[in-house]
Amino acid sequence: MNNHIYPIFDQTLQRNDRENMLNQKAKVIWFTGLSGSGKSTLAIALERELHQKGILCYLLDGDNIRTGINNNLGFSEADRTENIRRIAEVSKLFADCGVVVLAAFISPTTEIRNQASEIIGKDDFVEVFVSTPLEVCEQRDVKGLYKKARAGEIPNFTGISSPFEAPEKPALAIDTSQYDMGTCVEMMLDTILPLIGH
Ligand code: ADX
Repeated sequence: MNNHIYPIFDQTLQRNDRENMLNQKAKVIWFTGLSGSGKSTLAIALERELHQKGILCYLLDGDNIRTGINNNLGFSEADRTENIRRIAEVSKLFADCGVVVLAAFISPTTEIRNQASEIIGKDDFVEVFVSTPLEVCEQRDVKGLYKKARAGEIPNFTGISSPFEAPEKPALAIDTSQYDMGTCVEMMLDTILPLIGH
């Protein structure tokens, strides 16, 4: 029989305890911009840099969200709102874990991003606008979707047949057609490291 008397804790562990364990402050770095603007590319590069500095982070983007938890959602206004609501709720849980979240989603309207910021909490929501112009994104057309959208084969395509509203006061704006990746990473680190206690 185990006679050890356990102390009774009156509080569950808090985010602060986990942040202290990880020696970092959690934030949600929210990348917004057109399809093909470079959101995921920037987030992946930033994730690697932060990881090398010993910072625990986690990337959320279409590859792990729209194929999984949100695989029942399309691109109507209502579905995009629900897409972003769920992503914001998941991001909030990760932040509560003490993890730095890198979330890369078009999140096309001010309203949708405000909703995300309110769910996550304004202090934890760090907006990075990937401001690469439509012409450049369309020319890149990595997935061939702009061509299809112009041909009328994809309804509600952001930038073509569905609006994109640029954020007014992002923490950082990066046009990936203006800078090389090394410079983009430096810009992100300059903005983000102080916010996560590094
Ligand atoms: S969001 O608008 O709801 O934030 P999200 O970032 O999850 O969009 O998904 C965007 C990706 O889905 C695009 O990069 C593109 O590959 C693909 N996609 C498919 N249909 C559309 C569409 N109608 N509008 C924009 N992107 C689309």
